[in-house]
Amino acid sequence: LSWHKQALRGLEAAEKAGRIEPGRGPILFCGMGGSGIVGDMVAALAYGRLRRPVIVVKDRTPPSWVNDDTLVVAVSYSGNTGETLECVEKAYRHTGRILLVSSGGRMQELAFEKNLPLIKITPNLLPRAALAELLYAVVGYLRSIGLELASSCEVEESIDILRKGIGEDAAKSIAELLYNKLPVVASTFTLQALAVRWKNELNENAKIPAKVELIPEWGHNDVVGWEEPVNAPYAFILIDDPGSPEYKPLLDFAAEWYERLGPVARVELKGEGMLAKLMYGSLLAGLASLELASMRGVDPAVTRGIALYKEAYKSSSPNR
Ligand code: F6R
Repeated sequence: LSWHKQALRGLEAAEKAGRIEPGRGPILFCGMGGSGIVGDMVAALAYGRLRRPVIVVKDRTPPSWVNDDTLVVAVSYSGNTGETLECVEKAYRHTGRILLVSSGGRMQELAFEKNLPLIKITPNLLPRAALAELLYAVVGYLRSIGLELASSCEVEESIDILRKGIGEDAAKSIAELLYNKLPVVASTFTLQALAVRWKNELNENAKIPAKVELIPEWGHNDVVGWEEPVNAPYAFILIDDPGSPEYKPLLDFAAEWYERLGPVARVELKGEGMLAKLMYGSLLAGLASLELASMRGVDPAVTRGIALYKEAYKSSSPNR
């Protein structure tokens, strides 16, 4: 995963796409799976920064408030994902401010037919492995139209962290902790995108189910669910951002609560900026899930369930 190179490619690709006026309304992201997570990450970056809401839709229909002031960003690595294409077609009835991000497929044709800007991503990767190119392409593009999600220092910091990489041992020890266990990934609310990324990587690479829990909401329901859980071999990943010390007592409490039930790995994020934290955490998730796949003897690249689901989806879609 040479994500530092991908990040630079993403920034470059963004420069080549045609510009759109950003409008003044909310920003709507459409996309599924490894492409949809880009929207989650942008929402995390925008949360403490932009003066506009970022809403992520992982479904076939955009919300009813979409109008010509809404900026829509649709991400589909393959360019052929049914839900995302439908979402774009429906949003297009209300706004022309649509940026498409894809390596090709039907989405590229749509860009041509409707004269919409397209950020062209390098083809022939797995969507989830292209996270850095997809995310930096969007970050670079939004910055160029006045929507800054990360300062240039933060972008540099994050690329530096990607360049340094993560030692094999860290990923290995997490994989060992998760081996033959049911993983639960917990983070704070603002790092939800990262917890979801961990879950998705464990699902798709290691072929196991995983659950996400978010603090502080955790303390109002999940916590009770762990009082009398079904007897199963659980393991817990607790994502810890040392830059948010106000959450430390809550994370300590959660760690103690979980320790009664199974092993807990506390993952300390690196970096100052949100982008660095998201990328560091995603890189570790990727490496740990690949390690776990190899321990389990499963092929991380093949996602049979997704292919079958996409076939089933076609019969639910009147257009294709
Ligand atoms: C990730 C992956 C899936 C896809 C999802 C949507 O590697 O394979 O999660 O990202 O099925 O497909 P795309 O990204 O092509 O729109």
